[in-house]
Amino acid sequence: MERREVESFFERASSVRALVIGDLMLDEYLWGKTDRISPEAPVQVVEVNREDLRLGGAGNVVNNLVALGCKVSVCSVVGDDDNANLLRGAFEEKGVDLEGLFHDPERKTSKKTRVIAANQQIVRIDRETRAHICDDCQQKVLGYLYARLGDFDVVVVSDYLKGVLTPAVLEALCQAGRTLGIPVVVDPKGNDYGKYRGATLLTPNRKEAEIASGIAIADVAALQQAADKLLSELALDALLITRSEAGMSLFPSAGAAVHIPTVAREVYDVTGAGDTVIAVLSLGLACGLSMADAAWVANVAAGIAVGKLGTSTVSPQEIVVEVGHGLKDSDSKIKNLDVLTHIIAQERARGKKVVFTNGCFDLLHVGHVKYLQKARELGDLLVVGLNTDASVKRLKGETRPLIEESERAHILAALDCIDYVVLFDEDTPLTLIEALVPTVLAKGADYKIEDVVGREVVEAGGGRAPPAASSTRSSTPTEVVAPKPLPAGPISASYPSIPGGTMKKAFITGITGQDGSYLAELLLDKGYQVHGMIRRSSSFNTGRINHIYRDPHEAETRLLLHYGDLNDASSINRLLREVRPDEIYNLGAQSHVRVSYDVPEYTGEVDALGAVRILEGIRETGLNTRFYQASSSELYGKVLETPQRETTPFYPRSPYACAKAYAFYITKNYRESYGMFACNGILFNHESPRRGETFVTRKITRAAARIRLGLQERLYLGNLEAKRDWGFAGDYVEGMWRMLQCDQPDDFVIATGETHSVREFAELVFSRHDLELAWQGAGVDEKGVERRSGKVLIEIDPRYFRPAEVDLLLGDSGKARRELGWRPETSFRELVAMMADADLKIAQKELRANG
Ligand code: NAP
Ligand code: GDD
Repeated sequence: MERREVESFFERASSVRALVIGDLMLDEYLWGKTDRISPEAPVQVVEVNREDLRLGGAGNVVNNLVALGCKVSVCSVVGDDDNANLLRGAFEEKGVDLEGLFHDPERKTSKKTRVIAANQQIVRIDRETRAHICDDCQQKVLGYLYARLGDFDVVVVSDYLKGVLTPAVLEALCQAGRTLGIPVVVDPKGNDYGKYRGATLLTPNRKEAEIASGIAIADVAALQQAADKLLSELALDALLITRSEAGMSLFPSAGAAVHIPTVAREVYDVTGAGDTVIAVLSLGLACGLSMADAAWVANVAAGIAVGKLGTSTVSPQEIVVEVGHGLKDSDSKIKNLDVLTHIIAQERARGKKVVFTNGCFDLLHVGHVKYLQKARELGDLLVVGLNTDASVKRLKGETRPLIEESERAHILAALDCIDYVVLFDEDTPLTLIEALVPTVLAKGADYKIEDVVGREVVEAGGGRAPPAASSTRSSTPTEVVAPKPLPAGPISASYPSIPGGTMKKAFITGITGQDGSYLAELLLDKGYQVHGMIRRSSSFNTGRINHIYRDPHEAETRLLLHYGDLNDASSINRLLREVRPDEIYNLGAQSHVRVSYDVPEYTGEVDALGAVRILEGIRETGLNTRFYQASSSELYGKVLETPQRETTPFYPRSPYACAKAYAFYITKNYRESYGMFACNGILFNHESPRRGETFVTRKITRAAARIRLGLQERLYLGNLEAKRDWGFAGDYVEGMWRMLQCDQPDDFVIATGETHSVREFAELVFSRHDLELAWQGAGVDEKGVERRSGKVLIEIDPRYFRPAEVDLLLGDSGKARRELGWRPETSFRELVAMMADADLKIAQKELRANG
């Protein structure tokens, strides 16, 4: 389907009347903390600090249909209790028609209460009646259906086996649906599908289809077999089998199956995705889409739903954006403001810098094109607000425009440098700017900065004051002035000047490591003189910085290396006295968590006491030096809150994390005790092609490349389920620097806000080498097998398990984003690709060297 078709499909949604019939529920969540065992019985005591009530079961399908813009009616039976009142209230708020909602004082309204502490569900308490509804209620339901069914365009049946959907109700519904030509779409449950006979469409998942058909579904042939059986036994028009990461397959009763691969980019939460699928699918059928098209849009919606944490609905705008994703034909670049607002919000959330400019662009000439190209260079994407014909007339007189708005829009959209065009009818683009909140405003040099409309909006959104406009005033916009998007935040105006010169001096411990090398590059780029502490080693360990190292005898060398060791206070003090740095970045560490169990005392010496040696050195030498401590997300360990932020309590789980906890607190203590400018950067995992080869990401990218070229047979890993918030090290060193440029010292989380498992990382990397993995077995016997050849490529080696594991890390870097203007620039997929490709080059070299 084309994006335009999807857009017009959703435009029809508001006229669709949908009936949802089935089991309604309330989902209650009680969130709290637990740190003691009850004296009454050996159970945990949970102190509840947050409660949340959501519509569940068929209620969540209602939620989804309402979010898609349809008019929704509900038919169900609930109790006559407080929970029923809560349900009613929630539906009424959404404008749902409740004429078909009946009450039975003998029934309990279903409520599931989940108690969650420290990210674990501790207990679920169900209050419900699971028997069929009484005869009297059944009559009411049937009466309602006979009276009202003809009013609807589609019926969605959401069965949770709680008793509303009796065989009699289902039979009447399916028969009446056929007679009236109204599609009846069923989300089935249980083993007996006979009761759904005659429905239009059933949407079981693979497992459910397997149970209902009695056919083990191991491959596509078995899938087809199971579908054929269910289609003929149940006299359906079609069957849609959802297959998790394998997408979904539509089996029409006549015609070939349509297999739709998943479009999920990141999977966070699959809860409720089935409700999104059935809602979109039903809406599609109600709007007259073909089954295949409706399934296709539902699949796009499912991809969005699983990428969200905690929300179970998807909006039409999100679907349209997703469909248009990647399409950059000139048509798809022209957006209305609603859709564009969503696109831009997503792009900004992904850290993209959005440049906005506007104009009439009547008779486009080379000056315009150059101007637009320059504007595009100010960020990652360029949005052009284009005056409509009416507004051009008002601004330039009756004879203008010479070219009408749709042609002007298409000409602009054909330019590579333009990503989106949006028309506006007002005299100024203020409404557009307020809706889009771009990062950069671009205007021609003939504008005075104070006259740039929307400047305040952009500045409030994180942009910065623009530099003075060029003095060359010209009607041709050949020059661009713009608020610089980054760095936003409190850059110090009173940065201490360096005695004897203006060049700032930075001192880095751990300069030969991954982060040290990126930080050194960044600071050299910024004009710093960089001093690095290196350890004496019997072989060279400067591989990561060789490319920036110059012979110190050369003039103007700005990278200088000194021998020293974090275990040797005298070397630290000597270097501080000699170098007198303005900024110290303490990155040196025994940084491997697993290894810290083998050398716990040494890890403490370097990682914990190393930090206090530097802090004491600064204090004793009386330097006015700013200090950065490389703290770590490992401090959160057995996490007490997700996502983790600066206020989340620590729960270190390894000698490494315990040592880093000491360094964290001693840094804070020196700040508070002596007024030192000392900051902790609580960095979540960050990786790169320079990552040490025994950290899991690099271990995987290296092995996958070598396996692809036949240099290695197999990769041995530990815990595949561990989840990490992985970012790109090159982005993270910018955060370190920004912390030391603030007016006040503070601690900041640096993270992407996405989490992925080791398994997922491995799958993506191997798939980049065209090696699709299938997993077989479980526990230590689990194996990653290449689908095509059946070769075992990954095995589990318990040696890589940790005595105490950190299961899940997911950071909230909101504070750094707000106060430092920092954000990650590299996506997870870009990181995977970067590392996989770099290791392939290394493996190719190795292959050539081996002859
Ligand atoms: P890395 O690649 O392992 O580098 C560690 C650096 O520390 C190396 O330059 C190493 O020197 C040096 N070092 C080790 N022992 C030392 C000692 N006794 N004295 C002086 N230097 C010593 O680590 P990274 O990934 O760049 O991480 C940098 C810092 O950030 C570390 O403190 C790490 O714990 C922390 N951190 C990292 C991450 C991450 O995901 N990368 C996340 C949070 C925090 P040699 O080259 O001589 O071994
Ligand atoms: N290293 C390694 N090797 N880890 C494996 C393996 C394996 O074969 N198999 C599974 N894992 C799992 C580990 O159990 C862990 O849960 C996860 O992969 C990540 O391990 P590492 O890449 O070694 O990193 P880390 O998260 O333990 O520590 C890194 O990040 C911290 C920030 O959270 C290090 O860079 C630390 O210095 C840093 O502080």
